[in-house]
Amino acid sequence: MIAAGRVSVDGQIVRRFGARVDPETSEIRVDDVRVVTAPDKLYFALNKPRGVVSTMWDPQGRPTLADYTGQTSERIFHVGRLDTETEGLILLTNDGELANRLTHPRYKVIKTYIAKVPGPVPQRVAREIKKGVELEDGPVEVDSFRVVDNDDQQALVEIRLHEGRKHIVRRLMEAVGHPVADLARTQVGPIGLNTLKLGTMRALTQREVGELYKVAGL
Ligand code: URA
Repeated sequence: MIAAGRVSVDGQIVRRFGARVDPETSEIRVDDVRVVTAPDKLYFALNKPRGVVSTMWDPQGRPTLADYTGQTSERIFHVGRLDTETEGLILLTNDGELANRLTHPRYKVIKTYIAKVPGPVPQRVAREIKKGVELEDGPVEVDSFRVVDNDDQQALVEIRLHEGRKHIVRRLMEAVGHPVADLARTQVGPIGLNTLKLGTMRALTQREVGELYKVAGL
């Protein structure tokens, strides 16, 4: 990769084999994607079960994320929150700048949710959502909306959006007459839940961290 001119350090293409870098401070990129080398930086994905509060500690003694993360070498924090009753993907890291950008709507990092709602969901509702539903604290701009399964009794819908106002998906679906019965987050930017089992955590790969940096504009 070095020979092919694909590697840069602090903005300069490096062509010399054996060039030295400081892993704590050097900005190393391959094909312009960051390779995060700071040895103390940690990045995890957790599949949060329902009933777990999105904090690391709860004064009321309810189950928290810390019950699922175990001991890590450095303190980690959750990136944004899910409602206690929402399950699914939550990222944890001690990389404050990345965490900040992943949650701030300005960086437009898309989060994907699957909601179980009363069915059937008519085309009219899908159109209404895509147009932008007005809530009491402003309109909701969805990046996409799709009916995955549409039964008389219940429907599954996929909502992708880049903002994180409190209860946003529940409020949106309530506003269009299809209140959420179950909600799960399946994706944050390039990171998907995939086969990660409920209640388990895994370290992100170097490539995944690079992809997160890219969508966060870092
Ligand atoms: N929207 C919600 O309503 N709840 C969540 O937990 C996440 C997004």
